[in-house]
Amino acid sequence: MRVVILDNKQAVGEYAANIVEEQLAENPDSVLGKATGSTPIPLYQELIRKYEKKELDFSRVITFNLDEYLLLGLNLKLDAKKDQSYHRFMWENFWQHINIKYPENTYILNGLTPNPERHCELYEKQIVKAGGIDLQILGIGSDGHIAFDEPGSSLSSRTRVKYLLFSTLVDNYDAFVKEGGYDFTDMPVFSITEGVGTVMEAKKVILLATGRGKGKALAALVEGPVTSQVTATALQYHRNFTVIADKEAAEGKELTQEKPMKRDGLRDLSRHQYAMRAEKLYSQMQAARIKGATIDDLKTMQKKFLEEILAKNFGGIQELLEAKQKEK
Ligand code: F6R
Repeated sequence: MRVVILDNKQAVGEYAANIVEEQLAENPDSVLGKATGSTPIPLYQELIRKYEKKELDFSRVITFNLDEYLLLGLNLKLDAKKDQSYHRFMWENFWQHINIKYPENTYILNGLTPNPERHCELYEKQIVKAGGIDLQILGIGSDGHIAFDEPGSSLSSRTRVKYLLFSTLVDNYDAFVKEGGYDFTDMPVFSITEGVGTVMEAKKVILLATGRGKGKALAALVEGPVTSQVTATALQYHRNFTVIADKEAAEGKELTQEKPMKRDGLRDLSRHQYAMRAEKLYSQMQAARIKGATIDDLKTMQKKFLEEILAKNFGGIQELLEAKQKEK
């Protein structure tokens, strides 16, 4: 593992863009693995800038995105411009600005697939058919996840449906509720995501971590033991892996005096119970799908689940959300 620490998120984006440029110079037909979220935005901006200066050509490039929200990639009640799908994110922040062949060469999991299991199998096959991922770009969640491989995901997992943990629902609050105009109970509870095992097969991996909020996760990734509780740590075994962090995220390394990713017992207990309930909900949704339930029916089932979580103040969710509301 190589660790590069730079001044700020802009520098992280530029450094990562240079790695992409080297990759495309070496092989213009490269297959790139893409992440979404706030972290890679400076990287995408820099890649667009290089494309506009004719330093980069994406006409032969193929991309595979890591993940997508299940069902609620799209909020049918809202203006499509406000949907929080990763598909829209990629289009707005990257694809529409470059000469990549869209949609032929831009693979992304479909949040509205009628058959998630088959869809995931097909995605894995499409990656293999494309020759595998040459360069994978990753961010890291504040709980140490990569893609949507939440704590507890198997380190050999493949593309599949995964529930989003509490911490991620809270992390998503700003994007969905504050920016997207969603009600908390309409937020997605599940994602479709590449597994840790899928990510580990990329020939080269770079992980970007910026901002103070990523300090603990970064410390656990770089200095902690390999554990499925911090799925990014699997990358310690990767043969060609570089972490690119800014100073703010790297400062968090002091936090390792505390045990990495330490959580209080109560939260851990509720996490387990939450996971069991989410898994049960998914089985019920699958059964309903087979009996012909519509997307709206499935979303209603999901909404009821979140309403119950809120009403029972599961894991102290009300306090966590109140704190989010107060943040600017
Ligand atoms: C998104 C993804 C996620 C994010 C992570 C950090 O495609 O794979 O693992 O990288 O949740 O998100 P940001 O960058 O928004 O903090």
